[in-house]
Formats: sequence, C-alpha cells, structure tokens
Amino acid sequence: MVAQVIDGKAFAAKVRAQVADQVAKLKEENGITPGLAVVLVGEDPASQVYVRSKGKQTVEVGMNSYEHKLDVDTSEEDLLALIDKLNNDPAVHGILVQLPLPKHLNEDLVINSIDPAKDVDGFHISNVGLLGTGQKSMVPCTPLGCLMMLRDYHGSLSGMDAVVIGRSNIVGKPMAQLLLGDSCTVTIAHSRTKDLPDVVRRADIVVAAVGRPEMVPGDWIKEGATVIDVGINRIERDGKNKLVGDVDYASAAERAGAITPVPGGVGPMTIACLLANTLTACCRSNGLPEPEGLTA
Ligand code: GUN
Repeated sequence: MVAQVIDGKAFAAKVRAQVADQVAKLKEENGITPGLAVVLVGEDPASQVYVRSKGKQTVEVGMNSYEHKLDVDTSEEDLLALIDKLNNDPAVHGILVQLPLPKHLNEDLVINSIDPAKDVDGFHISNVGLLGTGQKSMVPCTPLGCLMMLRDYHGSLSGMDAVVIGRSNIVGKPMAQLLLGDSCTVTIAHSRTKDLPDVVRRADIVVAAVGRPEMVPGDWIKEGATVIDVGINRIERDGKNKLVGDVDYASAAERAGAITPVPGGVGPMTIACLLANTLTACCRSNGLPEPEGLTA
C-alpha cells in the first residue's frame, strides 16, 4: 500500500481562510476585532521565530496582534503583573506565554495566572480538567490540529484503536483525551512501554509525539493505518541539515493508508489552530455562537 499524504500545509491554509472569513463577519456585524497577545521572555532563537510567525499570521487573518517582549531576567512579579493587565484588557481575547520560560520563572504558576477563558494554549489547569471531563474548554493547538486532520480524513473515528506515543502535557495527554472524546479506544505509550512495536502494530491511528528522530520504523505500522507525526527534529544527514519526524517516513509510507509528512504535516496546523482558538475565545466572551468546524 502506498499512503495518501495528508497535506497539513494546505489544510492549515483552509483553516486560516475559515478564520479570516469569520473575523471579517465579526467586524462587520458586531464591530469586534479578535485580539491575541503573545508574551515572550528572553531571546531563545526558536521561540523568536515562532512568535514572529504567530504575529504575522494573526494579522493576516484580520485579528489584532499584541507582542510583549520581555527581558530574560524579568521578575515573576513583573510577568504576573503583565498577565493580570492582559486578563483585564477587553481588546485581548487570547493570551499565549511562549514556553519554555527562563529557569527562574515558575511555569505552572505563570500559566495558571492566565484567565482560563483567554488561555488559547489550553494549558491552564482548569482547561486541562474541563477537557478531561468532556466539558467545553480551550484545547491545546497541536492536538486540536491533529484531530481536525483525522476527522477530515476519516469522518467518524468511533471505535478505532488509537495509540499515542508520548505522554507530554502539551501533546500526548490532551491528544489521548480528544481521541477518547471521539470514541476511539486509546492507548498512551511512552519510553517505558513494554513491547512498543506490538502495541503500535495494533493501532488504526498512530500519533507519534516523542521528539526522537525517526524512532518509529515502518514495520511497526499496521497495513492501512493512519499515521500522524507530531515530531519536528533537526538532524544532520549527508552533511546537510534536515527536518525529520518521529516516524521513519519512507518505510511508514509503504504500509500506512495515510500519513502526515515532516515538514508540511502537523507543524502548520498548530498556528492555524491558535488562530481558531482565539476566534473561539472571542466568540464565547461576547456570547456569540462558536465558529463551526474549528473546535473540538
Ligand atoms: N513552545 C513550543 N510550543 C509551544 C506552544 O504550543 N505554546 C506555547 N505557549 N509555547 C510553546
């Protein structure tokens, strides 16, 4: 079997176009412009690239973008004061604090100081609890993007066997909750899982989110399974820098029914879902109907 390639770049463009349409309508009919505030502490190069990209795409869909760049040695008190100000600013519907934070800042404390209704990352403990109990919440962007692609490809996921490899709070755990919410039978596998190859071989859906380059070989993939590769790993091969996923793409594509490539798979969906979440937060805070197809 040769896998169908799930084009995340094209899908993300479609999601952004839907968001842009809804934003235009909100402005015209309600005089509201959604606003996203992004807070970056320090000068981590990868974080700077992400933040720039988020700001650019936010403006492209017609939303207001507020960037707050703080010194690497900003105190916790000053950061919490900024978050409090953003929590109380009616022009700000979404707040994202770029992670990782410098070591002297308590990440949990900072994230949990964001108003849960504006927590477009879905990392606040209230949103984690709401998602875990099947209630309306803000949903982490990367797993939301994966779910959208799976729903688009399969229609219903009901009754499918899904394996999530990786148990992070940002991807693995919320991904498992979302798949369970769509009535999959879900296994969360991780570095201590016994017989990982056999566990993966049983899956109709494999979501790989471990951060280890090409860790999942093709012979672990059940014939016809759908493979969602969340990994973005920089490696050197033949003297060249290359981006690869957590799945060995070439061998997995020979067995899978469908697969996301790296780059151009899950990656572009994350920011698209951040914009979708900002729109959702804006609609909810104004008592307006939520945008269709852009939520879990
Ligand atoms: N750093 C890397 N990915 C993310 C993300 O999705 N959200 C935040 N806030 N920081 C990140």
